[in-house]
Amino acid sequence: MSAGLSERIARISFSSTMEVAARAEQLRRSGAEVVDLSVGEPDFPTPEHIKQAAIRAIHEDFTRYTPAAGMRELREAVCERHAADFGTRYEVPECLITSGGKHAVFNFIETLVNPGDEVIIPAPYWVTYRDAVLLAGGRAAILPTAPGDGFALRAEEVRKRLSPATRMLIVNAPNNPTGALLNAAEAAELVELAASRGFWILSDECYASLVYDGEPFSIASLPGAARSVLVAGSLSKAYAMTGWRIGYGLGPAQVIEGCVRLQSHSTSNPNSIAQRAALEALRGPQDCVTNMREEYRRRRDYVIRRLRDIQGVTVHSPGGAFYAFPGVSALLEEGRWRSSAVLAERLLEEVGVACVPGEAFGAGGHLRISFAASWQALEEGLDRIASFLARAHR
Ligand SMILES: Cc1ncc(COP(=O)(O)O)c(C=O)c1O
Repeated sequence: MSAGLSERIARISFSSTMEVAARAEQLRRSGAEVVDLSVGEPDFPTPEHIKQAAIRAIHEDFTRYTPAAGMRELREAVCERHAADFGTRYEVPECLITSGGKHAVFNFIETLVNPGDEVIIPAPYWVTYRDAVLLAGGRAAILPTAPGDGFALRAEEVRKRLSPATRMLIVNAPNNPTGALLNAAEAAELVELAASRGFWILSDECYASLVYDGEPFSIASLPGAARSVLVAGSLSKAYAMTGWRIGYGLGPAQVIEGCVRLQSHSTSNPNSIAQRAALEALRGPQDCVTNMREEYRRRRDYVIRRLRDIQGVTVHSPGGAFYAFPGVSALLEEGRWRSSAVLAERLLEEVGVACVPGEAFGAGGHLRISFAASWQALEEGLDRIASFLARAHR
């Protein structure tokens, strides 16, 4: 146990993806030419019309507190955009604005999970879910999904994992780190299961606008979903706004009211200037989203092609988000590296390529490679990975 810290904080650890980025930055500062394929962050600037809205907000002195739940107009805009994109029918009391999508996830877990409650987290999972559940005193019930099945979440597997203590299931599609999408038929079964067995489905839709195969989809749009589905959304990835810290939560008014109560004693409102920028993002032209998505699609195709050319690496093409999640078990079996964590460390220290080991997502034997990076970084990074692994093979 860490001395002096509360028991709650002693339960959690620093975000491992942020740790890799910090180590890459440290090497870079010491003069190494590091190619960083670890960060889950668009390399595009925030679109100009969004930036201008923020500048106008400053000039108009829109610099005071807003309601803790966010500006009413922005809550309306979130509901409208979700309706336009996915066909849902949320109203203002069912929406709150948060300081990023991570904050929405945190608010929901903190608001609904009691000590001892179980939260089913399909693996591979985004690092924060587990720690947020542990912080709330809950238990993380990890449910592995299979690489051979494209890491698809199967309702039948969820059903088998349910227990009397199950309080919540976290669904993240498109998934970080696998890019897997949620099949609509499986989603419908999950909604039925949640209704009959009485648990919440927390749908993390931070990558919902980045779908390459098929149509964007929200589990919240299914009949009957309004009672059991909670949506955590974000403007970070869709509009290249990671630093602005704007996300949102959608769900039954009573739950949202609980989140607002929590927010009113913690962060209060998200940044007022960023809220005005978000309003422009949601109500303004959407071609910036389409253009970025098409660019990511080209990068995805390139990265997957390059990875498939490397002996010992297996990879499925991600249907969304901006990560490749190649399996490297065949390479590990040759005994040169003990684990994908060791391999990722060697890649960083020996050839200066930062990527995140699968262990960070509860799925050792894999690496996460972000393609939200420039073409130059992708080409250079993949050249280095390919020659490093080829050398090791000889
Ligand atoms: C799956 C997932 N959810 C939520 C977030 C949080 O994004 P933000 O807090 O920037 O909105 C991220 C960021 O990497 C993510 O990958």
